[in-house]
Amino acid sequence: MALEVPWLFLEGLDRCGKTSQCRRLVSYLEGQGQSAELWRFPDRSTSVGKMISSYLLNTSQLDDRTIHLLFSANCWEKRSLMETKLKSGTTLIVDRYYYSGVAFSSAKGLDFEWCKAPEMGLLAPDLVVFLDISLEKAAERGGYGGERYEQLEFQRKVAQNYKVLHDASWKVVDACQHIEDVEKQLREIVLESVMSCQNGKPLSNLWS
Ligand code: TMP
Repeated sequence: MALEVPWLFLEGLDRCGKTSQCRRLVSYLEGQGQSAELWRFPDRSTSVGKMISSYLLNTSQLDDRTIHLLFSANCWEKRSLMETKLKSGTTLIVDRYYYSGVAFSSAKGLDFEWCKAPEMGLLAPDLVVFLDISLEKAAERGGYGGERYEQLEFQRKVAQNYKVLHDASWKVVDACQHIEDVEKQLREIVLESVMSCQNGKPLSNLWS
């Protein structure tokens, strides 16, 4: 089935500004008359998401592989709704998705391929945008350190893993710029993606 809307997800280190930029993008697309929704992973509203949230807030402990599989399950539990939305013409702007799973879990020493395996078959996006921020700049932003992974040394490993995962199709935006400049660049990227999807694009699965 042809897909006529692009969907994309934003990735990056903690505090790179993804969430604000995703919100801005959705408002922009809606203003252009496009049906668009903001999705976030982890989706903390589900029962799996609540377990993840409590782990991230350090109120529960879980084995590294267990939490990885919960993040993956959190993506899987939303997959069919995601497909329905895309097929009905809603553009999804997704704040983190499976690349976060691999980048963060393998920063604990888990094998890359092991981390990728449970995500095989999730929907692949039209575009991945990486908001690039230095470790130091991210750490200066408000609220840093509030959750389990917001530690400089850990984020350094995550940043290295993103470099390994990165491929030529990713768009990289300098997230150290002024918020409005980041927004402008993201709009341009999204409009380009809309143009390239104009003739419809089939949905495809990840790592296939
Ligand atoms: P957030 O701050 O964007 O809500 O993300 C919460 C944390 O969860 C963040 O430190 C990244 C981490 N994370 C994973 O470790 N694996 C995943 O699959 C996802 C989606 C997020």
